[in-house]
Amino acid sequence: MRAAPFFAPQPPYAMSAAGCWITDADGRKVFDCANNFFSLVHGHAFPPVIEALHKVLDDGTAFGLPTTSETSLAEAISARSPRLEQVRFTSSGTEAVMYAVKAARAITGRPMIAKFEGAYHGAYDHVEVSLDSTPMNWGDSSPKSVLYTKGTPVSTATEVLVLPYNEPETCRELIRAHHERLAAILVDPLASRVGMVPMDADVREVIQDCCNRYGILLVIDEVVSYRIGYHGAHATFGFEPDLVAMGKIIGGGLPVGAVAGPASHMAVFDHTKGKPAVSHGGTFSANPLSMTAGLAALQSYSMNAVARLNRMGDMLRSEITEQLRRRELPAQVTGMSSLFRLHLKTEVIRNYRTSFPSPVQKTALAKVHLAMLERGFLMTPNCSGALSTPMSKTDVQDLASALVDAIHETWKQSPWE
Ligand SMILES: Cc1ncc(COP(=O)(O)O)c(C=O)c1O
Repeated sequence: MRAAPFFAPQPPYAMSAAGCWITDADGRKVFDCANNFFSLVHGHAFPPVIEALHKVLDDGTAFGLPTTSETSLAEAISARSPRLEQVRFTSSGTEAVMYAVKAARAITGRPMIAKFEGAYHGAYDHVEVSLDSTPMNWGDSSPKSVLYTKGTPVSTATEVLVLPYNEPETCRELIRAHHERLAAILVDPLASRVGMVPMDADVREVIQDCCNRYGILLVIDEVVSYRIGYHGAHATFGFEPDLVAMGKIIGGGLPVGAVAGPASHMAVFDHTKGKPAVSHGGTFSANPLSMTAGLAALQSYSMNAVARLNRMGDMLRSEITEQLRRRELPAQVTGMSSLFRLHLKTEVIRNYRTSFPSPVQKTALAKVHLAMLERGFLMTPNCSGALSTPMSKTDVQDLASALVDAIHETWKQSPWE
């Protein structure tokens, strides 16, 4: 599980929120650029979501039976992404990724998965491998499989092939060498912990080609990146996935996850003819509140809304880049669409290793985070963030200026280069 945010000397305690603003226990307002770890694409207490919830709240919150709210949300997702013919809901993105991995193993009869070094995919044992490997243990250009959680069985690492992001030839070699045992390649094409750089076209081609050639399933983790395009991240990046894991914005601010794909693959979960190859359940899966909120959020995330938010993200990143250049600060911002991440280094960021902060940079990042909080802006603890639809152009300009000011202040106090 992701560590709960704790900011020294103390985090603001949230009391209420509306739009872009959270009010804390001291009555202070902060401008929220973290948006509950990228899950609130419309910001807080979005009126269409709240109204939709009010309408269903009195009818009960969990039935253990199918509801029309879940079929409506599934239909909305399929309508946007025709490749996703069937959708099964979970209560979190972690579960969605876990079920996608289990499905891939069951469909292919193979035990291993491949994932990219540094990529976060939730808390399932296998997908945590090499989440925080360091120069001390990450090995040479073929990344080592490094266990993440203390006590995880060592055998877990042997079932995970770790790939270097944006290194197409090494990826091809590694996949070729292990293809007979590989059930799935798990890909987040805009992985935040990998540096939040979009995956290059040549790596995408290698991945898709290897999957087609060797019968490996392509699993795209869109838990965060679903928001980048109306048809989902797989369509934006030109992938033909076998399964997609989703979460965050499709719950409209309530707990959610989903695994989706062509009906032929989703049949692995079919329980109508006896025990399925993969049993999928979950006490609160497809709970009507998450389904209702998610549908209202997606309905308001129209093609125009997606395009506008993406333009604002472009504006934010170019404004920050320009201001950093003018002030000669050794920092850069990566990201795509409405997502951004700060790095306190100038070297080109291609992957986990080039984005890896030195201890001094790590300390400075925490200081920038705090300096932003002091200016009334909340980002995630690693100085990434997500825009939301209630934000205006002025908000985005203010955010860019505050961030560069915070970087400048930190640089003057404790330079990191
Ligand atoms: C890319 C990615 N996959 C999966 C997850 C897990 O989702 P959840 O926190 O809903 O379990 C996250 C969470 O941040 C994520 O960023």
